[in-house]
Amino acid sequence: MAVERTLSILKPDATRRNLTGQINARLEAAGLRIVAQKRLWLTRAQAEAFYAVHAQRPFYNDLCTFMTSGPVVAQVLEGEDAVTRNRDVMGATNPANAAAGTIRKDFAESIEANSAHGSDSAENAAVEIAFFFSGLEIVG
Ligand code: CMP
Repeated sequence: MAVERTLSILKPDATRRNLTGQINARLEAAGLRIVAQKRLWLTRAQAEAFYAVHAQRPFYNDLCTFMTSGPVVAQVLEGEDAVTRNRDVMGATNPANAAAGTIRKDFAESIEANSAHGSDSAENAAVEIAFFFSGLEIVG
């Protein structure tokens, strides 16, 4: 295992219910270090660009509407095997399938309002981190 970074987004359902501290505590307890973090309200164009890989999926329009329905918290997580570790802590995309004790099992409202996003590979993490943060904003 190597120390790596991943992009995490705490979604509008999490900010609306004031859950960002509880979610961050779980990330930190799992050995992930928050080396960059900012709260922002995505524009429609920003949400569409971030999720462009899903543009042909039937849920794309609703997903972009949801992601612009309130503030999000974008963050860079650093740690051993951070991409996989974060996905393990989040649990399955659909909270109905998420394991007990995971963020999505305990907090998510639906497959769309599933509280958190995490990069799915180291390659995508680099692209997604660069979408939100400049190098100067990441302090390890
Ligand atoms: P996320 O990890 O942010 O990546 C894309 C998001 O699309 C996903 O989490 C879900 O919140 C959302 N989504 C909505 N419907 C679906 C679906 N049927 N399959 C996968 N993702 C979905």
